[in-house]
Amino acid sequence: MTTLKGYQLLPHLPRIRTDTPGFLLECARRYGDWVHFDVGVTQAFFINHPDAVKHVLQEKNRYYTKDTLQYRTLALVTGQGLLTADGDMWLAHRRLLQPAFARPHLMALDEVVLPVVDRMLQRWEHLAIQQEIVDVDHEMLEAALEVVGLALFGLDLSREAPQLVRAVLTALDYVIYRAQNLVVPPLNWPTPRNRAFKRALAELERAVDAILDQRRDGKAQGGTLLNLLVQAEQAGQMTRQQVRDELVTMIVAGHETVATALTWTWYLLAQHPEVEATLLAEIDTVLDGRPPTREDLPKLTYSTQVFAEALRLYPPAWLITRRAIAEDAWMGHSIPRGALIIISPYVLHRHPEFWDEPEAFHPERFAEDKARAYPRFAYIPFGGGPRLCIGNQFALVEAQLILSRVLQRFRLSFAGAGPVQAKPLVTLRPKGGMPMRLIPRQAS
Ligand code: HEM
Repeated sequence: MTTLKGYQLLPHLPRIRTDTPGFLLECARRYGDWVHFDVGVTQAFFINHPDAVKHVLQEKNRYYTKDTLQYRTLALVTGQGLLTADGDMWLAHRRLLQPAFARPHLMALDEVVLPVVDRMLQRWEHLAIQQEIVDVDHEMLEAALEVVGLALFGLDLSREAPQLVRAVLTALDYVIYRAQNLVVPPLNWPTPRNRAFKRALAELERAVDAILDQRRDGKAQGGTLLNLLVQAEQAGQMTRQQVRDELVTMIVAGHETVATALTWTWYLLAQHPEVEATLLAEIDTVLDGRPPTREDLPKLTYSTQVFAEALRLYPPAWLITRRAIAEDAWMGHSIPRGALIIISPYVLHRHPEFWDEPEAFHPERFAEDKARAYPRFAYIPFGGGPRLCIGNQFALVEAQLILSRVLQRFRLSFAGAGPVQAKPLVTLRPKGGMPMRLIPRQAS
C-alpha cells in the first residue's frame, strides 16, 4: 500500500479539484489498488480492486455509512431521501418504495417512454429541416425528467420540464461548489450563487407541492411510487418532510443519470460508425419499423451491450464514498474507524487486469458469452450490495427504448469543435453540452 501525505498532495490540488477522475486514475496506475491519503484528521483510502469494493459495498456494508462530504452536501438538496439516508430509516423506506420498481411496472415502461420520445422526435423533425444543431444533452435531460414524472408520479411534467431541469442542475452545481470549497459564504448571505441555489430549491419545493396537490385533488391518479408515498404519509409511516425528500431524490437521481448516460452513448455512437451500423441493423431487423415494445427488449441484445459499454466508459455516478463506522481490515490492510473510503467506477472500469484496451469502445465485450469474463464488482455503474441503485432496471429499460426509438428515425452526428471533456460534477457531465446534428434516417 502507498501512503500519500498531505504535503505530497498539495501540488496536485488544482487537478484534484478540476479533474478528480483523471487524478484518481493516475493514482491507481502509479500506486496500485489500495492508496492511502493521509491528510491530517482525514484518513482516506482509495480502493480500486473488485474484491475490496465488494468487501465495502456488500460483505461488510454494515461497517460503512454514507456520512461523507459527498452525501452530506447532496443532502442539502435531497434531504434524507433513499440516496443519502442510512440505518433503519433507509431500510424502512427502501422496503416501502421497492414495489414501485417491480418487474410489472418496468415492463409497462414502454407505454410511458414512447409518447415522450415521440413528442421529442416530432420537434426534431422541424429542427432537422432547419438544419439546427441540437444540444442533445439538454434534450435527454428533459425527456428523462418527463419519463420520471409519468412513470413514478403519474404526472405530465412536460410543461414544467425546462424549469425543473434548470433547477436541478443549478442545485447540483451548488452541491459541487460546496464539496470543492472548504470555506464558503453562509447560505443566508445574499451572494449570486446562494441566491441561485435558493431559487432552485424553491422551484423544487413548488414542484413537490404541485405533485402532491394534483394527487390529492384527484386530478391525477398518481404513479405507483407517488401512491406509496402518499399512503405512507396517511398511515403515519412517513412525515411530510420525508415524502418531500423521497420525491426530490427520485427527481434528482432518476433523470440526470439516465440522461447523461444516453448523451455519452450518442457521442460514442457518432464516433464509431461501425458500432452504429451494427446497432441500426439490429434495430431494423428486430423492429421492422414498428415502435419497440416490452417483448422486443430481450431481442435487442446489441443495444444492451452498447449501453453497458457507454456506462463502463462514462459511468454517470463516477464516485462512491463511504465512512467506516467501525475498525475493519481487508487483506492485511487496516481501516481505522472514521476512515473515508473512495471508490471510483470510472477508474475501476478501466482496470487493466479486468478490461482489455480499457479506453476503447467495444460493446462486444458485453456479449452474452463474454459478459462474465469480469468479476461482478469490476463493473459497478449502479453500485452494489444493499445500496445498489433502486432504479437500475428502470434505467436500462428506459435507455433501450429511447435508443431504439430515436435510431429508427435519426442518426446523430457530433457537431462540436473538439473532443468533449467529461466534467466530474455530481454526475459525469459533458462539458459545454453535446451539440449534434440530426440526420433523418431515410435521407442517410
Ligand atoms: C444510468 C442511470 C443510473 C445510474 C448510473 C445510477 C447510479 C446509481 C449508483 C451508483 C447508486 C449507488 C450509490 C452508492 O452506493 O453510493 C445509485 C443509487 C440510487 N439510485 Fe440510481 N442510477 C441510475 C438511475 C436511477 C434511476 C432511473 C432512479 C430512479 C428512478 C435512481 C434512483 C436511485 C436511488 C433512489 C438510489 C439510492 C438507493 C439506496 O441507497 O437505497 N437511479 N444509483
